[in-house]
Amino acid sequence: MAGRILIIGACGQIGTELTLKLREIHGNDQVIASDIREGAEELMESGPFEILNATDDAHIRKVIHDYEVKEVYLMAAMLSATAEKAPMKAWDLNMDSLFHILNIAKEGIIDKIFWPSSIAVFGPTTPKDNTPQTTVMEPTTVYGISKQTGERWCEYFHRKFGVDVRSLRYPGIISYKTLPGGGTTDYAIEIFHEALKNSAYTSFLAEDAGLPMMYMDDAIKATVEIMEAPAEKIKVRSSYNLAAMSFTPEVLASEIKKHIKNFEISYDPDFRQSIAESWPSSIDDSTAREDWGWKHEFDLEKLTTTMLKGVSATLKTQN
Ligand SMILES: NC(=O)c1ccc[n+]([C@@H]2O[C@H](COP(=O)([O-])OP(=O)(O)OC[C@H]3O[C@@H](n4cnc5c(N)ncnc54)[C@H](O)[C@@H]3O)[C@@H](O)[C@H]2O)c1
Repeated sequence: MAGRILIIGACGQIGTELTLKLREIHGNDQVIASDIREGAEELMESGPFEILNATDDAHIRKVIHDYEVKEVYLMAAMLSATAEKAPMKAWDLNMDSLFHILNIAKEGIIDKIFWPSSIAVFGPTTPKDNTPQTTVMEPTTVYGISKQTGERWCEYFHRKFGVDVRSLRYPGIISYKTLPGGGTTDYAIEIFHEALKNSAYTSFLAEDAGLPMMYMDDAIKATVEIMEAPAEKIKVRSSYNLAAMSFTPEVLASEIKKHIKNFEISYDPDFRQSIAESWPSSIDDSTAREDWGWKHEFDLEKLTTTMLKGVSATLKTQN
């Protein structure tokens, strides 16, 4: 391929698996992983890695120049629950990093950008069920405000300067290979670890907190597919709604009970419950399905069996 790929924030929950997938597709040396910290052994050893701060414009430009990078995946961000504890720091990281990459693309130094948005762009005034692609967006979290603002800027840079930026509104992403980074949907990962270790879990969300969710493999598949699609198929340049399944903690717990009969769930909602209440329960992603052929593979049943198997294997290697 002409030009290499740079992942910024490669050591996170999504970045780790995305980097490994892109290395599998394009070759290890073609995909440069970077983060503010070191990550999993497999990621560090399978190809080039740079310590890189996503807010350091000069250093980003140097890495892009040195490795002849043409495509950037900007995965570094402060997530919803963590951002509520440090709003200004979250705003600076989430916005500055995006502006650096958009401007580098505007100058013609790189050709293509992937930047993830989130269901957090929606707020309490958004229709909750089957939330449409285009609808009321009044987010109440600093994370949601930063993602919505980012979407507006992506669309602006595309319209005004022809920047090829592509984006997905990820729902809660569930995986077992890398621990999550402080999101409101993290309960749906912790629950598997606790179910296997202790046959019990106390959820920080209420039993009826329904949220859109997706297994990691589907999130990676969507990311690769939207980036590989011909530019004319990407008609939405803010960010695409993306969905696979929606469930409540109660529904997830009863699915787990099918495998671990004595599993018990209890509920002790904390500040994350009000974040969850401000978000949609389910998402209409028909625009992504029509425009570039999005199709998910994992439903709740497949997610549960895959997670139980994966977490169980991880716990065995830790013991
Ligand atoms: N995980 C989800 O459920 C989810 C849902 C919706 C959207 N997203 C979005 O997807 C992206 C990736 O999310 P994730 O779950 O992998 O997050 P994460 O918190 O697991 O990973 C983020 C990574 O960014 C790195 N980072 C933080 N500050 C940095 C800096 N200044 N410079 C360079 N790297 C820095 C962290 O070290 C971490 O490795 C984010 O933009 C997030 O908002 C995630």
